[in-house]
Amino acid sequence: MSDLARTRADFPILHQQVNGKPLVYLDNGATSQKPRAVIDALVRYYERNNSNVHRGLHALSMRATDAYEGARTRIANFIHAADPAEIIFTRGTTESINIVARSWAHAHLKPGDVILTTEMEHHSSLVPWQQAAKAAGATLKYIPVLGADAEGGLDYAALDTLLTPAVKLLAFTHISNTLGTINDAAELCRRARAVGAVTLIDAAQSIGHAPIDVQSLGCDFLVFSGHKMCGPTGIGVLYGRRALLDKLAPDETGGGMVVTVTYEGANWKPSPERHEAGTPNVADAIALGAACDYIDAIGREAIAAHDHHLGAVAMEQLSAIPGIRIIGPRLGQPRAGLVSFAFPDVHAHDIVTFADEDGLALRGGHHCNQPLMRKLGLTSTTRASFYFYNTEQEIGVLVASLRRIQKFFAG
Ligand code: ALA
Repeated sequence: MSDLARTRADFPILHQQVNGKPLVYLDNGATSQKPRAVIDALVRYYERNNSNVHRGLHALSMRATDAYEGARTRIANFIHAADPAEIIFTRGTTESINIVARSWAHAHLKPGDVILTTEMEHHSSLVPWQQAAKAAGATLKYIPVLGADAEGGLDYAALDTLLTPAVKLLAFTHISNTLGTINDAAELCRRARAVGAVTLIDAAQSIGHAPIDVQSLGCDFLVFSGHKMCGPTGIGVLYGRRALLDKLAPDETGGGMVVTVTYEGANWKPSPERHEAGTPNVADAIALGAACDYIDAIGREAIAAHDHHLGAVAMEQLSAIPGIRIIGPRLGQPRAGLVSFAFPDVHAHDIVTFADEDGLALRGGHHCNQPLMRKLGLTSTTRASFYFYNTEQEIGVLVASLRRIQKFFAG
């Protein structure tokens, strides 16, 4: 059995037929599949240790608390945070960004200030900044993307004029979920720091796909979801530098995050409790720790190499299909393990529906990137996104299916 076959054997869901064909799951940008080790961690927690955390002195509560806080430490190590208190468990990337957009922005932005983001942001790292800017009387500006197909990535030269001292926050995606562009996160953070701006990296598409080191990236906040890195849904992370988190007003208040409560008022614990009011998502946090173990056993360098190889193979084979328009980096340029494409006469939803007949799971639509789509003159694309359990042979299935669909629509 090859290493890849052994890895695939860890994922029960991959071994099924869809519409009479072997499942070819190429929708990893939307969510990844879960290995047996993560599913087992969830089952074990509910069968053996389920209890509320930080509240009880009985054996189960102590076990649950140890496992929950152990997961926090594991995740801190996973992204090389200096302190486990810098890891706040949230429901996912969207909630993490909203916390910063509400709490941090409310305290730090004033009229005339600028939030800088990019033209390739997912709606979850765009709409919250629009709201924050409106609430503060601040302005939201965008680093442009270059090229008719956004093949040139971000316009780094534009930073010279955009990054002024008025910029208080630079928020950007590490890897575009639509283009496959890999942004130079360390360089963007360095440039932002030089004008005193705080930085937030949306790592939803990079976490679990490449080594992430928040200290060498030099970011202030980094956010991600568990479900895109082999973990469960409903759990994510807001990483923040401790000095920022300890001063940040809590977005939610209630039990577990207070030191003293009187009928007149209350005061808050330091991070992380300060930002985790109520009973946390204990089971999924623990399973996310198991996902970190699983991913690191495979190796993130190896995962990145496999992803990039599949991205390159897909680019080569898809580029040979007549009439296809591929957006994002050109053939031969660095790109993440995903490819977005469109055909002039076939809607992405038709492609996804027809490909489903061949057992393929693809994604079609605007990918929560409506402004970027509009800029590129598109309403939608079809996206194939890969992970370490995908094979070159599956790309062959994708290409054969697209050729079949094209022939059908050509009449
Ligand atoms: N953000 C997810 C995607 O790109 C849902 O598909």
